[in-house]
Formats: sequence, C-alpha cells, structure tokens
Amino acid sequence: MQTRDPLTALFAIRETGRPPLILAPMAGVTDAPFRALASRFGADLTVSEMIASQAMIRGIARCLKQSAHGDPETTLAVQIAGADPEAMAQAARMQVELGAEMIDINMGCPVRKIVGTGAGAALLRDESLAGRIMEAVAQAVPVPVTVKIRLGWDHHTRNGVTMARIAESAGMRAITIHGRTRAQMYSGMADWEAIAEIKSRITIPVIGNGDITSPEQARELWQKSGVDGLMIGRAALGRPWIFREIGHFMTTGRLLEPLPLRERGAVIVDHFHAMIAHHGPRTGHLLARKHLGWFTRGFPGGAAFRDRINHAPHSEAALEMLDAFLDTTLASRAA
Ligand SMILES: Cc1cc2nc3c(=O)[nH]c(=O)nc-3n(C[C@H](O)[C@H](O)[C@H](O)COP(=O)(O)O)c2cc1C
Repeated sequence: MQTRDPLTALFAIRETGRPPLILAPMAGVTDAPFRALASRFGADLTVSEMIASQAMIRGIARCLKQSAHGDPETTLAVQIAGADPEAMAQAARMQVELGAEMIDINMGCPVRKIVGTGAGAALLRDESLAGRIMEAVAQAVPVPVTVKIRLGWDHHTRNGVTMARIAESAGMRAITIHGRTRAQMYSGMADWEAIAEIKSRITIPVIGNGDITSPEQARELWQKSGVDGLMIGRAALGRPWIFREIGHFMTTGRLLEPLPLRERGAVIVDHFHAMIAHHGPRTGHLLARKHLGWFTRGFPGGAAFRDRINHAPHSEAALEMLDAFLDTTLASRAA
C-alpha cells in the first residue's frame, strides 16, 4: 500500500464531508502540552509555536522545547520564522532531523520585534525575498512545506493573491491565510471574502483563518469561502474541545452537549500536571497560570480564583488551590 504524506492525509479528511480542523500556531501557547490537548479533542493538525531560525541555528535550547512533540500519534508540524533564505533552509533541515514531519513558514506575524528583523509579515512587503525563502525551504527538506500569510501589509497593499501565486510556484503544498492585514494587527474582523477570492485564484489547498468561534459559524465560513481547511486560534484558548464540537456539528448537523464541568475540571488538572512535566515546576507553573485563566472563564467564582492563584508561591500550592476551587465549584453545581 502506498503511504500518504501527512498533508495528503490531512486534506483527505474532506472526503468525510468536513474540512480538516487545525490548531493555529500561537507563540507562548501552542507548546507540546497544549498541542496534545487539542489533538485529544479533535484537532486534525496542530502547529508548534513560531521558532526563530537564527536562534535554532545558534542551538538555543528553548527552540528544542518549542518544537518538542506534543503527541507522538499526531503529525509534528513546526513553524519557522526568519528573513534569510539560507538560514531558514538550515533551520528547516535541523527541525526535520529532529522529527518535524511538516514545516510551516511564518509570513504573517505582525509583532514589531519580528517585523523589525524583516521576518513575519514584513515579508509581505518583499515578494521577491518571500519567494526565495519559500523556494529555499521547499528544496531543503523532503517533508511538505506550507506558508502562513496575512492579506497584505495594509489596506492599500493587499497582495494576498500575488503572495499565494508566489507560494504556489515556489513549491508550497498549502497556504494558510489569516484574513487581516498586518496594519490591522488583531482589530476588526477577518475578511473571509478576501480569503475566498485568493482560494479561487490558486490550485494549492487554502486553509482559512480568523475569528472562528462556533460550530455554526465555522460551517458557514467553510461553505461560503470554499477553503480546504479551517484554522482556529484564540477560540481554542481554554476551550480545546472546540475542535470536537465543530467536527461533530459538521458531520452530523447536530450540536454536541457542552463538556460537563466535571470533565472540564479533570482536563484542567491534567493539563497543569503536563505543563509541570514539560517545562519544570517553576516555568510550568507560571505558564499554566495563563491557561488556568482561560479555562476558568465563565466558571462561578472564576475571577476571584484567578486572583488567588496568581499569588500562589509554587506549583504545589497552585495545584491545591485548583483542587479546592474545582471541589467547591462542582459541589455548588451539584447542590
Ligand atoms: C497569543 C498569540 C500568539 C500567536 N503566535 C503566532 C505564531 O507564532 N505564528 C503565527 O503564524 N501566528 C501566530 N498567531 C496568529 C494565529 O495563528 C492566528 O492567525 C490568529 O490568532 C487569528 O486566528 P483566530 O482568530 O482563530 O485566533 C498568534 C496569535 C495569538 C493570539
């Protein structure tokens, strides 16, 4: 039997009547524990945090942690960022040697620190360099290479169609489009008509991204835009089960019951332990606090709990507070 590469397998999901659902790369968020959680709750692909190519080449240990496997059962897709074709090619090769099964190139990050080095969304303003980076990476590694862009630098320079065509001829196997310009940062709403327009002009698969928050809306955006995959970022913060909710709705037409509070509690505790195991007690505790904030949104007493846990001196104390909070919350719900 012929083995299919991970990207072919990903898009084959369309044969089941729904698009593949992908967890967006998010710096400081999509580490191994969170990617494992999203996979467990139905994400068909998860992408690592952005890894700076120069830091990777210099052997900075943080990069290895950032691209560590979240769940050995799933495809390891690693996103790299940078502005030098050779350095990007080298970083991609190193990642593949370490186990990456897909490489994604960041051409959408709007943050000044990244854009200031000519990387991320800055590449939308230098189509020639963007093309050379894509070609260099595609030729450097035997695994599928994809690129993630925004619609353009600003309202006056929306070159998404040109960038997508460059991606196509540079050997990108798929392109993700976040439906905003760099100038918009995260303001306004993602422009899905513009995503649909780009989709209609190229032949490689297009993954649409921006502001997906519910199963009904995900289906509508998918049907209207005709994209090949959907990528979800912020809506998965504190709600990684959104992938299962969307997948279920798209295949059955029915909404899943909300995840019971007790199960949510178990997920939160498991994730806390996974963060400590992956990052160590100190960093793990600090990073887990951010997730606890998201997870407890909408819980009765959640705001007071977040305030308390931010003052927990160490991970054991935080875990005790978490257990006590969940016990009280669950007991009050059961009463
Ligand atoms: C905290 C945070 C970190 C992000 N980091 C990255 C990143 O490292 N690479 C990237 O391509 N996009 C990054 N993004 C953008 C997301 O991948 C996504 O394009 C954006 O959030 C829009 O999708 P959403 O509306 O579903 O969140 C980040 C977004 C957030 C909120």
